[in-house]
Formats: sequence, structure tokens, C-alpha cells
Amino acid sequence: MIDQDVTPQEKVIILDFGAQYAQLIARRVRECRVYSEIMPGDSSVEAIRAREPSAIILTGGPGSVYGDGSPLPDPGIFDMDIPILGICYGHQLIAVHFGGRRAVTPARQREYGRTSIKLDVESPLFAGLPGELDVWMSHGDLVESAPAGFAVLAQSGATPVAAMVHPELPIYGVQFHPEVGHTDRGVDMLRNWLYEVAGLSGTWNMQSFIEASIEKIRDQVGEGRALCGISGGVDSAVSAVLVHRAIGDRLTCVFVDHGLLRKDEARTVSERFAREMDLNVVAVDASDRFLDALSGESDPEQKRKIVGREFISVFEEEAAKLGDFDFLVQGTIYPDVVESGVGGSAVIKSHHNVGGLPEEMRMDLVEPLRELFKDEVRRVGTELGIPRSILGRHPFPGPGLAVRVLGEITREKLETLREADAIFEQELRAADLYDEIWQSFVVLPNMMSVGVMGDQRTYAMTAVLRAVTSEDAMTADWARIPAEVLDTTARRIINEVPGVNRVAYDVTSKPPATIEWE
Ligand code: XMP
Repeated sequence: MIDQDVTPQEKVIILDFGAQYAQLIARRVRECRVYSEIMPGDSSVEAIRAREPSAIILTGGPGSVYGDGSPLPDPGIFDMDIPILGICYGHQLIAVHFGGRRAVTPARQREYGRTSIKLDVESPLFAGLPGELDVWMSHGDLVESAPAGFAVLAQSGATPVAAMVHPELPIYGVQFHPEVGHTDRGVDMLRNWLYEVAGLSGTWNMQSFIEASIEKIRDQVGEGRALCGISGGVDSAVSAVLVHRAIGDRLTCVFVDHGLLRKDEARTVSERFAREMDLNVVAVDASDRFLDALSGESDPEQKRKIVGREFISVFEEEAAKLGDFDFLVQGTIYPDVVESGVGGSAVIKSHHNVGGLPEEMRMDLVEPLRELFKDEVRRVGTELGIPRSILGRHPFPGPGLAVRVLGEITREKLETLREADAIFEQELRAADLYDEIWQSFVVLPNMMSVGVMGDQRTYAMTAVLRAVTSEDAMTADWARIPAEVLDTTARRIINEVPGVNRVAYDVTSKPPATIEWE
């Protein structure tokens, strides 16, 4: 669990009733400079009290308050005398607690999507907002009449109680989703609730996080030595620099080149980390070993397993050569913690990150970023002075190009992919698009097609460009790259990369596709 030491005094606990929105709510609250944490919706009031919350949010969820086994909060939370905001299912839970089960009924007309509501702008929740707004609704049940004494603060055509407040306690419910981008002024409503209703002042910032976490790392590591695997990615870079600030040269970083990195990455990462961030980096070229182990394998899951297994062996061997270490630094971030089951949401993905902990290595874990979202990690990195070129790098999967050369991997295909990928990146940067895009890369789909170049018939590889926008990789949309940029990229790849005669652009969102092709 998350350690209390680094967590600030103002804290909102988000009780997760299985909504896909819990992480989004947590992020929005933090954007308002208030620290937030997700806990399972049915957590005991004792467990919640132990986290010392300043206020609680009850999320939406797929259940119906009537459903057998639908998660319910510990009723003790309503006696904690702290502000509570219920959203969607959470709003209905409040209605049932104070008004009995009859307060909530199945809606005659289900409401999904944008809906216009009228709001009471005298309420602190809606202070400064216009009297009518479009909000995002997504519900089958609704609060038919507010519990006795509650004031109705908003309604739509189909929803008589779109927002309500308890007569004496700071307990609010909203049927719509203020956290989603489709709700006009939704962040203003959350900010109003945090500042005007809950009386918080917004003290969560990255500088205070850095100071507190350096203290915490010093306490944990004492005079011990720590080892950190760096990948060139943002999370491991920020973790390493933070730990280095805390314990200096007692940190050693290991960079394993598995032969599946992007163009020039193997050469530049360790040099840059050593030179620009003053880290003690040991670089290991293990590419032959990985590529030999992958030879002939075409199944995506097997490829991932092979890379994961080899990574652990190489890492262990290097660690053994470097002496005794007491701690292993890992770049785990908050979405990893939540996705592995802290909240109530279904586990959606279970990627094996190549940086995973070798179980047989008896080292304690140091995970300085366990509480942070990706954008917060980048902000910490900026405050720590890590170059923008490292912090802004698109996420890269642990198994690297192994999952972008579909089917069997050969050195030649890797070389082709690297060249094409580098051209795509150059063109996106030249068009000032790289930073707007969550991830962009080239895939070799193991497909040959006929072409004609000069007077010659060709039979060569197809390269697929993939670029997506996303907030967290859980969902993604294909990036609307201007046709001219695609055109220049395709022409350059055909002209400059031998063995490719066709370029395609992937226009699928996630879901139904995934970001990677394997
Ligand atoms: P998908 O393809 O599932 O990817 O939409 C979501 C995000 O995860 C990355 N990804 C991986 N990361 N090991 C990793 O460390 C993996 O095996 C792996 N597979 C996908 C992907 O690049 C995207 O950012």
C-alpha cells in the first residue's frame, strides 16, 4: 500500500464502485491541486479513516443499487462528518442511504450522452456557472425524488434530481459526470466542491512531493546501496534521478540493450543519462543473446515471455557482477498500482513490463512514483531538470520492437523498422505534431506486396504507420495527421528504406483495436 509519509494533508479518497471513471476523477482532483487516492467502494470505515481523508467522492459504477451484490459503501462514512460527493451511482447511493430504496427508480427513459440541465447557481457547487449547461449523463436508474429535507440543485427533462444537497451536512450528489471532458465546466464544478464546499486550499504540488519523497527514500535506504534498471523511458529516468538526489552514488543504474530498441537509442541513452543527469550507468549490450533466443519465434505472447525471461537473467548476472545491493528501484506509477487491483475496477490489462522484479533477487523495492499519474511524473521530471527530450519521449513497450515486427524477428527486419520509424518521428517533429501525439511508431506486419519502381516490378514489405492520441493508453484514438505529413513520410520511407514498397496508415481506435499490433 501507499506510504503515508509522502502524502500531503489535504486528501480526497475516491471510493471506486467499478466505474471506468475512477482514475479520471482522481486525475481531475489532482489537477485542482488536491491529492487523491482510489480505494475499493466497499472499504471499511476504519480503513478509510486510517487514510485520514479530508473529503470523499463516491464514483459511478455499472451496478444498480437494486442489483444483488452491487457494491455498497460502509454506511459509517456518512457519520464521518466530512464532505461527500456522489457521482452517478454514488449519487444514487446517497439517495438510498438517506431516503430509502424507493428514492431510486429505474429510469423510464435511459439517458446517455450530452444532456442539458438547469442548475441552481446560488449553490456553492455551481458558483460562477451559467444557469444552464450541457453535461454528460450515462445512467439507467435515477433519483426520482430527493430524500426528505434535501434541496434539488439541478434537473434535466428526464432527470428530476440531477444534483442535490443534504439539508445540514456537506453531502452532495450529482447524476451526471463532472469529470469527463464532455461536461461543460465540469472541472469548475469539482473545483467548487473542493474549495468552496470542502474548504480545501490546493496544496498538492510537485516540489513538495519531491522534498517529501527524497526524505522518505533516505529513511528507507539508510546507508544501503540501490540498483535501478533504466530503459530510456520517462518513469525509470525520473525514478533514478529522484533516488540519486536522495542517496547519490550509492545508486547504480543498469541499461540493458536487448537489441529491440529504436534507432540510436542503445548508443545515446546510457551516454546521456551519465552525462546530463550525472548518474552512474552500466550499459550492457545483450542484443545477440536476445535475438538468438527470439529466433524462429512468431507468437506474440511467447516473444514477450522470451524477452522478459532473458531480461531478468541478464539483469541478475549484471547485478551479481556489481556487488551487493539492498534495494531495487522501480518506476511503478499510480495507474499500474490501480490496475493491479487497488480500486474496484476490473483489471483491464496485465502487461509484463520488462523492468519487472526478478523474484529471486532478494532486494527491497523502492518505488518513488507509486502515487503519481504520468503527467505528474513528467512534471516531477521537469522540476528535477531532466531534459525535455527524455521526458517528452513517447511511451515504448518493454519488449520493444519485438512486438512491432509481427511474426518472426530478423536483424534485417529490425533494421528496416528502425529506419522507417526514425523517418516518421522526424516528420512528426518537423510538423510540430510529436508532442500532441501519445504514441507514434511504425509496424512491419510481415506482409509483402507488389509494386512498381522505375520500370521494375517490386515485391517488398509493407510498413504501417500508427499514431494515436490518448490520456492514459487505456483508450486511444487514431491521430488526425494532415495528409501532407503522411505523404512526405510515406515518400521518404519508400525512397530511403530499402525493402519497403508500400506504406499504410492505421485508422483504428482503441477499443476495438489495441495501440500496438501484437
Ligand atoms: P495496447 O497495445 O495494449 O498498449 O493498447 C497499451 C500501452 O501499453 C504498451 N504496451 C506494453 N508495455 N510491455 C510494456 O511494458 C508490453 O508487453 C506492452 N504491450 C503494450 C503500449 O506501447 C501502450 O503504451
